[in-house]
Amino acid sequence: MAADRIIVFDTTLRDGEQSPGISLNPAEKLEIAHQLARLGVDVIEAGFPIASPGDFEAVQGIARAVGGPVICALARAHAADIERAGAAVRDAERPRIHTFISTSDIHIEHQLQSTRADVLAQARAAVAHAKSLCEDVEFSPMDATRADAEFTASVLQVALDEGATTINIPDTVGYAMPLEFAAFLGRLYELVPDLRDVVLSVHCHDDLGLAVANSFAGLQAGARQVEVAVNGIGERAGNASLEEIVMLLETRKADVGFSTGVNTREIARASRLISRLTGYAIQPNKAIVGRNAFAHESGIHQDGVLKERSTYEIMDATSIGLEANALVLGKHSGRHALRSALEELGFAIDGAALNAAFKRFKEIADRKKQVTAMDLEAIVTDELRVTTSAWTLAWFDVEASTRRPPHARVALRTADGDEIEGDFHGDGPIDAIFRAINAATKREARLRDFRIDAVTGGQDALGEASVVLELGGSTGSGQGVSPDIIEAATLAYVRALSNAERRVLEAAEASEPADELSPTP
Ligand code: KIV
Ligand code: ZN
Repeated sequence: MAADRIIVFDTTLRDGEQSPGISLNPAEKLEIAHQLARLGVDVIEAGFPIASPGDFEAVQGIARAVGGPVICALARAHAADIERAGAAVRDAERPRIHTFISTSDIHIEHQLQSTRADVLAQARAAVAHAKSLCEDVEFSPMDATRADAEFTASVLQVALDEGATTINIPDTVGYAMPLEFAAFLGRLYELVPDLRDVVLSVHCHDDLGLAVANSFAGLQAGARQVEVAVNGIGERAGNASLEEIVMLLETRKADVGFSTGVNTREIARASRLISRLTGYAIQPNKAIVGRNAFAHESGIHQDGVLKERSTYEIMDATSIGLEANALVLGKHSGRHALRSALEELGFAIDGAALNAAFKRFKEIADRKKQVTAMDLEAIVTDELRVTTSAWTLAWFDVEASTRRPPHARVALRTADGDEIEGDFHGDGPIDAIFRAINAATKREARLRDFRIDAVTGGQDALGEASVVLELGGSTGSGQGVSPDIIEAATLAYVRALSNAERRVLEAAEASEPADELSPTP
C-alpha cells in the first residue's frame, strides 16, 4: 500500500452499535455491511461476538457473505472472547481479530482491579492466542491517552513481539487534544521503534467534539489507519465520523497528500441507511450529511453560489452522492421495473424479499402518485426489519377526539402465529396505541424517544417513525414507514418492543447483563 494511503476501519457495527437504544438484527447488520463494502472501507469491525449469540451470528453472517474488506471481530484479552471472535470471522476472505486491554492506572485499578504486571501478561497471552487463530491481529491499549506512556509502550512491545500487525491507540474517553495526541504518538514511536514496522491506528471519541481533529492529528503524526463510524455514532458522544474524515482528506488532498479507497458517492446513502436502521437522526447542520450541509439560506450566499458554486461551497453535493433522488416509479410500474430500480440502488433482491417489497410498493404507489429513489430505499430497509420480530402488527383501530380520551385497540401476531389483542384509553391517539400494545403483550415498556419525519418533501410524503423504549433494563429501537403516520408509529413501537425483548432474552442467556459486556466506558 502506498505510504500515504489511509486505511479506513469502520466500527459502525461495533462501537456504533453500542450507542444506547440501537439494536440491529442480523439482517440489518448484513445490509449495513454490504453498504460499507460498496462504500469502499478497508476494514469492517462487524461486532463483539462474545456479547451475545445474536452478535456472534451477525459477525459470522457478515464474514461469510461480505467480500472485499477485512472483517474484524472484537475480543477482550480473555481466552473465551478470543475463541469466539476467531470462530466468528474464520470464514471471512480476510479475517482479523481485534483484542484490547486497558493500560491506564484508572482502569487497571478501578475497573480491572488488577496490576500493571497482570495487564502486561494478559496482553501477551491474548495476542499470542489471537495469532494462533488468525494471521491478522490488532491490539489496542484501552484508555491509552490517560495512561503512562512508558507502561503503554511496554505493553505495545509485548503485543508486537507476539505478532500484532496493527496497533491501535484509542482515546477512549475523548479526553485528548490534537497537538497532545500527536505528541503522544510521537513519544510511542520513540519508545517502541518496532511500531514503524506495523500499521499504527487511531480510534478517537468525541466527548469534547475533537474526535475528527484528534484522528487527523494522529494521521499527520504517522498513523495510517483511522477508526471511524458513519454519522459519528458510537459510545456516548460517538466516534470520529467517517464522512468527515474522508471528505477532509479528499477536499484537502492537495495540501495533506493522503488518499483513501472510499467511493465518496456512496456516503449519503450509507448515512441514510444507518440513520434509518439505528433510529439515530442526523442533526440538520451535521457536517457533510446534515440536510443543511449544502443549503444556502442567506441572500448573499445564494447569490454567490448561483454565480459560481465555489464562492460558498468547498465540496460538491454530488461528490457524496446527493443528486440520486431522480428515479421515479408510479402505480403502473411492474415487478420488473421495481427490480431494476432496486438494482440501480444497489439492492439485489429476489424471491420472497422481492415479492414483499413489490406488495409494499403497490400499497404505497396507490396512495402516493410518485415513488422516488428515497421512498424505495425506505421501503426496502423497512422490510429488513421484519425478519426477527417477536410480534408483528396485525391491525389497529384508533379513535381520536377533542371531546373524549382517545381510545386504541390493537391486534398483534406472535412468532407462533397466534393473535393477541389489547386496548387502552391514552392521552393522545399515539399514546393510546403504544399502551394498547403494552397491554396486548403484557409488557411494561417505557417510551424513551419518539420521532416522526417525512422521507421526502410534499404532502403525500411517506412518514418515517422512530421509537426508542426501555424494557426490563434493556433498550430497543424500532422504525416504521407508511403513508399513514399513525401506522408508521405503531410499526415502529412493535419493532422496538420486539428488539428490546430480544435483548432481554439475550442478556438472560449470557450470564452477565449485556450492558456489562460493553467494552468502552
Ligand atoms: O474506545 C475504545 O477504547 C474502544 C476499544 C475497544 C478500541 O472502543
Ligand atoms: Zn471506542
